[in-house]
Formats: sequence, C-alpha cells, structure tokens
Amino acid sequence: MRIGILGAGGMADALGTQWAGAGHEVMISGRDLRRTAAQAERMTAGRGEPVRAGKWAEAAEFGEVVTVAVREAGLVDVLGACGAALRGKPVIDVTNAADLTKYDPTRPLAGLIRDLTGGHVVKAFNLCHVDVWRMTPPVFDGRPLAVPLCGDDPAALAAVRTLVADLGCTPLDGGGLDRAMLLEATALFMIGLWFGGADAQAILPPLASSGAHLPAEDRPDEDRVAGDPRTP
Ligand SMILES: NC(=O)c1ccc[n+]([C@@H]2O[C@H](COP(=O)([O-])OP(=O)(O)OC[C@H]3O[C@@H](n4cnc5c(N)ncnc54)[C@H](OP(=O)(O)O)[C@@H]3O)[C@@H](O)[C@H]2O)c1
Repeated sequence: MRIGILGAGGMADALGTQWAGAGHEVMISGRDLRRTAAQAERMTAGRGEPVRAGKWAEAAEFGEVVTVAVREAGLVDVLGACGAALRGKPVIDVTNAADLTKYDPTRPLAGLIRDLTGGHVVKAFNLCHVDVWRMTPPVFDGRPLAVPLCGDDPAALAAVRTLVADLGCTPLDGGGLDRAMLLEATALFMIGLWFGGADAQAILPPLASSGAHLPAEDRPDEDRVAGDPRTP
C-alpha cells in the first residue's frame, strides 16, 4: 500500500520504518524538506523499500492511506496545507493532546482531523510510547500488543487492521470514531501514571476477572455502559 505520513518525527520514523520494512511504499513529510529527506534516508538505510520525503501536500497526495503524526500545535496548519488531498481517504490519527489542562474531550483531535480533512479517520497507535512502535514485534509477556481502533469506515478500518498486523500487533475493534475521545483521554491518563512511575499495566484485571464472563442477565445494571454497543 502507498502510505503518506504527515510528520517526520519519532512516530513517523517508528511506524514508517516498520511499514517500509513490511513492503509498503512510504513518504514522510515535514516543515524542512532537507531535514525530512535526511530522515527518510535514515529510515531507508539497510531496508528494501526506499522511504520518500516530500512536502505536506505531496505526502497527502501520495498516500492511499495517510497517517497524521504531527504535534497538536501544528495540526491545523499542516492539514490546511494538504488541501482536499485527504478527502475520502483512510486517515490514521496517532495524535495526542499536548496539554492535559487544555484537553477538551468534547472536542477530540480525531474529530478535528475528520472535519479538516473529510477523510475516513481511524484513531490508532496513540496509547503507546514511540519506542514500543519500534519493537519488532511489540510482544510483552508472550502476548502481542493489542491496538484498539476507533473509526467508522469499514474500508479504512480494514486497511488499518492490515497495518497493525504488519507490526506484529493484534487489531482490536474499539468502536466508532465517536469513541476516539476515550482513546485520547486514556492516553493522557496512562501517560500521567507511567511518568509518575506507576506500573500502569497493573491497573486492569485479566478478562476472566472483568465481570464480562457473567451472562448478560446475571449482570447488575451498573455493569453495563449505556451507549456502548459492546455491552449487551
Ligand atoms: N512520541 C510518542 O511517544 C507518541 C506516542 C503516541 C502518540 N504520539 C503523538 O504523535 C504525534 C507525533 O509525535 P512525535 O513523537 O512523532 O513528535 P515529534 O517527534 O516531535 O514530531 C512532530 C512532527 O510534527 C511536525 N510539526 C508540524 N507543525 C509543528 C509545530 N507547530 N510544532 C511542532 N511540531 C510540528 C514536526 O515537523 P518537523 O518535522 O518539520 O519538525 C514533526 O514532523 C503527536 O501528536 C504525539 O502526541 C506520540
């Protein structure tokens, strides 16, 4: 698949290198073409498929799938520079809010990206640190990392599932794009725990102890989350 990446930083490097290694054609983009080209050269080194470098609009045009991997501060300008190139395309949103105190879950970044691009946005890859996406593959305690996807368009979701599997991860249905704000808020919460030194992985019980094993009729009403299509 041809993958355009808006961004030439850590996430573009980690994901783009993996996808190029899996045989996809990748173009990254940044503000400074020389710096972006040097980054693409580093990503290509020793690998089969050369990584290309371009301007924002070139990467947006190039991609059959386009990944948004820029800092929140640059989102509006970068997406504005892409014009209509993302309209109707699968758009992978890996972004997180830069400032917890300014994050408004009623105005998620995923929705902003959808509104600015007209693309079929899928929120993914935002929950883990960039170094996790460099692992080949990301497996912890023998379990491949599961990557939740929130999006509405079946074709876009199918494309992103493939790209998740190319990393050696397991795609997980996270529901529609209206739930992307849950992923964004979760990232902010987990980052706070991790950077505070907590073993955040320890906060959740295994599936067998989650209560989900009980038949629906035996669950108290408060075990169901109103509006969540996954809870019967
Ligand atoms: N790092 C992580 O562990 C991690 C994990 C999950 C999600 N994310 C999210 O992924 C996105 C990219 O993160 P990253 O770690 O790849 O960041 P990064 O290494 O700092 O790269 C940021 C990219 O954004 C571009 N950009 C455009 N306008 C910008 C502006 N006004 N200010 C700053 N940068 C601007 C930069 O362009 P230039 O190339 O021209 O500098 C660069 O390509 C962010 O939304 C972040 O929250 C990051």
